[in-house]
Amino acid sequence: HMSWCPVAHIDSVMEGEATCVVAEGEPLALYRIGEAVYATHDICTHAHAHLSEGFVNGDCVECPLHEGVFHIPTGRPISGPVRVPLRVYPVKVEGDQVFVQLS
Ligand code: FES
Repeated sequence: HMSWCPVAHIDSVMEGEATCVVAEGEPLALYRIGEAVYATHDICTHAHAHLSEGFVNGDCVECPLHEGVFHIPTGRPISGPVRVPLRVYPVKVEGDQVFVQLS
């Protein structure tokens, strides 16, 4: 069963930063890269840090705790101590509403 969860107004998702939302109890980070919107889990796979408090650089996000870097569209670990991919979620935008598919 696939369901789309409304998580944010499009204007709250801005380029160059990550926006934290909670969807069905899961903390997610939303990102805008150009016209595209992406969603990842908000908690780093290395230790307990919120990526939405980290730094967005191009299509990557850097963890605020130990500088682990993930590729936002795929969740792939890029550099630093991170080894486990970040979970990513399908996103759609309808009108001014951002939806994420959680399962
Ligand atoms: Fe994110 Fe260590 S908690 S790199």
